[in-house]
Amino acid sequence: MTRRFAVGFAACLAVAGFTAGSARAEGDKTIEGIEAYREALKDGNPAELFEAQGEELWKKKAGPKNASLETCDLGMGPGVVAGTYARLPRWFKDTDKVQDAESRVLTCMETIQGIDTKKYVSAKWNTPEKDELNAIATYISGMSKGEKVAVSLDHPKEKQMFDLGKRMFYYSAGPHDFSCSTCHGQEGVRIRLQELPFIDSHKGAAAGWTSWPAYRVSSGQMWGMQWRLADCFRQQRFPEPIYASDVTIALSMFMASHANGATMNTPGIKR
Ligand code: HEC
Repeated sequence: MTRRFAVGFAACLAVAGFTAGSARAEGDKTIEGIEAYREALKDGNPAELFEAQGEELWKKKAGPKNASLETCDLGMGPGVVAGTYARLPRWFKDTDKVQDAESRVLTCMETIQGIDTKKYVSAKWNTPEKDELNAIATYISGMSKGEKVAVSLDHPKEKQMFDLGKRMFYYSAGPHDFSCSTCHGQEGVRIRLQELPFIDSHKGAAAGWTSWPAYRVSSGQMWGMQWRLADCFRQQRFPEPIYASDVTIALSMFMASHANGATMNTPGIKR
């Protein structure tokens, strides 16, 4: 462990309320408790309500063009939803951009429904606009449950996004000189009794990538990966990234392609 890492890491744990030593045993019990809770809820994950709501929004005519999103191309052809989330992010010919589910939905809202999506992008979390997008992402991800992650890096822009994501993952800055890797750069770390996956590995990336969007028991909210990332930027003391911006898609590309071959287990359930 380099000194800089050690200092940053200790600060990271302090900031995030890490409990050690005598609290460990108790912590293990709590983790078992959370696991048992997760098991119990698997058959009735409240996320299902959001999936249903997302499906309704997907099929509802809306916007100046009074059209539904049902003809949206999520990468496997217009109208195909099943299996698409497991293959996102990916490069799209029409936009010449690498897009994740959320950014692709915004594209379809603009082109198919004629909606100006600026207010969706700038809306704060926990507002009807963001809740709609979260519900739609939850619906799309649920239609990939059980599918193997199969994200391509064949197109040069896909490879570029991966490289950008990797750079961002290790980029440290801000008041504590944190990077994602400060908290997610090694195996077996816990903060606030949550296990922190080592994201620059298949196992850790898979743990994170295949379980979001997720219903958060602690807040009773449904979070997509966009929200998850925005909250980690906050924990990192970085400015909040713009919703569906390249840096968020790049980090998702980094995680998703590391997770290739793992099974999608979305929507997930979390603390
Ligand atoms: C200061 C520590 C810290 C930093 C820096 C940080 N995270 Fe996190 N991250 C957490 C914590 C804590 C959790 C657990 C979530 C919770 O319960 O609140 C988490 C959870 C996650 C998860 C979900 C993992 C899972 O298995 O559900 C992902 C994905 C993630 N972070 C990605 C990132 C990325 C990408 C960055 C860099 C932009 C980052 N994090 C920076 C602390 C951090």
